[in-house]
Amino acid sequence: MPEIFEVMSTMRSMRRLKPDPVPDELINKILQAGQWAPNGGNTQRWRFLVVKDPEVKKKVQVYYKRLYDETVGPRYANSPPPPGTTPEAYKRQGAANQYLTDHYHEAPVWIVACLEGGENPGRTVGSSIYPAVQNMCLAARALGLGTTLTTRHTGFGKECDAIFGLPPGVQSYAILPIGYPMGKFGPVGRGPLKDFIYQDQWGKPYAGL
Ligand SMILES: Cc1cc2nc3c(=O)[nH]c(=O)nc-3n(C[C@H](O)[C@H](O)[C@H](O)COP(=O)(O)O)c2cc1C
Repeated sequence: MPEIFEVMSTMRSMRRLKPDPVPDELINKILQAGQWAPNGGNTQRWRFLVVKDPEVKKKVQVYYKRLYDETVGPRYANSPPPPGTTPEAYKRQGAANQYLTDHYHEAPVWIVACLEGGENPGRTVGSSIYPAVQNMCLAARALGLGTTLTTRHTGFGKECDAIFGLPPGVQSYAILPIGYPMGKFGPVGRGPLKDFIYQDQWGKPYAGL
């Protein structure tokens, strides 16, 4: 098993996944990693929905694709590459994004991260679910499974939550489509660390680098 820094630095979004089934034993390890995450007050108001039913996945994929066609696709086509990304890499990412959009429902397993956030979830609510989501992404990478942290479906959050049968006061915050990757894990593309770190005051260079 790779060590944690290697896992973190090579945990790219793996958007091209094989439809081959993934053993429950591996999914259970990922779920356990999620449930080990910190959460506010240790209240553990999270639930993780394991979705394998093709019909449920397909219904959500329709919304996921609609959001791609209406907003995400045009954004990829019309915006410059972000820091640390070449135009070619950005183009490849756009193509991978479209691929995942079209094949979202074909990932053999989804983990949907849900939280009992109340009727009007406030600004900090996500901080009690995203550590679990990140733990699960890291665990998948460590096990050689591919996934992508996706939140796009929240653009039709109410509709998708209804498809998942979530009760009132519970929302879904992320969907992790999981499967064996078609491609290889590799270094993540970010800008140089020094461009993102300040010292003492916003904008003041950090002397430690
Ligand atoms: C909060 C959040 C939401 C994201 N939502 C989506 C999504 O809905 N669909 C998708 O394909 N990728 C999604 N991503 C993945 C990012 O696009 C990806 O992490 C970023 O482009 C960097 O690429 P990399 O993970 O391959 O290094 C999301 C990432 C984060 C952190």
